[in-house]
Amino acid sequence: MSQAHGPASPVSSRSGNALKGRIRVPGDKSISHRSMIFGLLSIGETRVEGLLEGDDVLRTAEACRALGATITREAPGRWRVKGVGIGGLVEPKGILDFGNAGTGSRLMMGVAGSHPITTTFDGDASLRKRPMRRILDPLVQMGVTVVSEAEGGRVPLTLRGPKETIPITYETPAASAQIKSAILLAGLNSPGRTTVIEREATRDHTERMLRHFGATVEVAPHGADGRAITLQGQPELRGTDIVVPTDPSSAAFPLVAALITPGSDIVLEGVMMNPLRTGLITTLLEMGASIERLNEREEGGETVADLRVRHSKLAGVTVPHGRAPAMIDEYPILAVAASFAEGTTRMQGLHELRVKESDRLAAVAAGLAEAGVEHEIQGDDLIVHGSKTVRGGGNPVATHLDHRIAMSFLVMGLATQEPVAVDDGAMIITSFPTFIPLMRELGATIQD
Ligand code: S3P
Repeated sequence: MSQAHGPASPVSSRSGNALKGRIRVPGDKSISHRSMIFGLLSIGETRVEGLLEGDDVLRTAEACRALGATITREAPGRWRVKGVGIGGLVEPKGILDFGNAGTGSRLMMGVAGSHPITTTFDGDASLRKRPMRRILDPLVQMGVTVVSEAEGGRVPLTLRGPKETIPITYETPAASAQIKSAILLAGLNSPGRTTVIEREATRDHTERMLRHFGATVEVAPHGADGRAITLQGQPELRGTDIVVPTDPSSAAFPLVAALITPGSDIVLEGVMMNPLRTGLITTLLEMGASIERLNEREEGGETVADLRVRHSKLAGVTVPHGRAPAMIDEYPILAVAASFAEGTTRMQGLHELRVKESDRLAAVAAGLAEAGVEHEIQGDDLIVHGSKTVRGGGNPVATHLDHRIAMSFLVMGLATQEPVAVDDGAMIITSFPTFIPLMRELGATIQD
């Protein structure tokens, strides 16, 4: 098992200054993982600008190296990947250790599992708890052999792939871009057409990048909110240039920090505005947040905007289940915003939060309890009763190796009456390694 970090390193935050200034958060994690993966599967060279150099993505880069890619870092965020092409992967010499990364491990199961090589996947204590059956089931239908697995279909597990995968049509059992992507990536090494049906549309970075690298992908509406995505197998992917837009899931932390900290007025530069990622902004606007979208433009095939965010009086709302795919990683920080809102915020249908880096529903509820925020879990709904003043204090929040739990409660502490501590800030490096320095640049008081 990987040792993503040494002993736990507690971190705390407390209220103080209003937040002021302009920052640019790092590159998008989803697109960064995929940049390495598509680079590996292409012929020729892929040049990446703005790569997120978080631990999760570095693990994916390492796995792509083990499968044959030549990967070099030329400058901060600027990477080159020389690929081996679909069908050209080499058998890795050792175990692929994905650390904390669900996305990296699951997508790479589709990539390596679809080739006639034997690959073993592992990760840290958090990844070892996460369900992989959702990926293995469709892969087995495509001809992949699960040589071994830990109890309940978890890592460590070993896959052996066929010479070519069998093309399938598969309806995903959960709204998950990771399931969709693993199947489409496995479909690349198939002689036919692979179709993934999703009842609710999830982030579409894989589809967009497949096209960008030269594959043929058809997307048709399916039912009221879903899509059917069809990939023509065995395309020749060609190395290309990628500019990674900034990560809206990372921008969410300074954004909510400014909303809840009196007197704040900040600008977040170049935030990706892909509509399948902006559910948090939609929700916060409904709650009365002052968020202005300025200077909208195209970057790396995505619309980006500068967001001016000012301290705001928020009101509780109901967040419908249908919005979950567009804000799946943002519920912990929304719960923080809701703690400071007047009235009740009900977040509906959060069952997928139970299988993230931690059981996020339980971890958020436990953190809210420490801070003295009234809340309930009813089935899969989280209900937060907000208040203008939030006490904070309590015991350090248990983060369970979950970066987003750590960052969310550190943001909360910027506006509570008493400081807020988290038991471990080490995992923040998985997705947003510059979180603490950037927050301090805005004036936040965070002690590590
Ligand atoms: C991701 C998909 C989401 C998200 C994760 C990144 C991706 O997971 O939570 O952080 O890059 O495809 P699910 O597909 O499990 O919802």
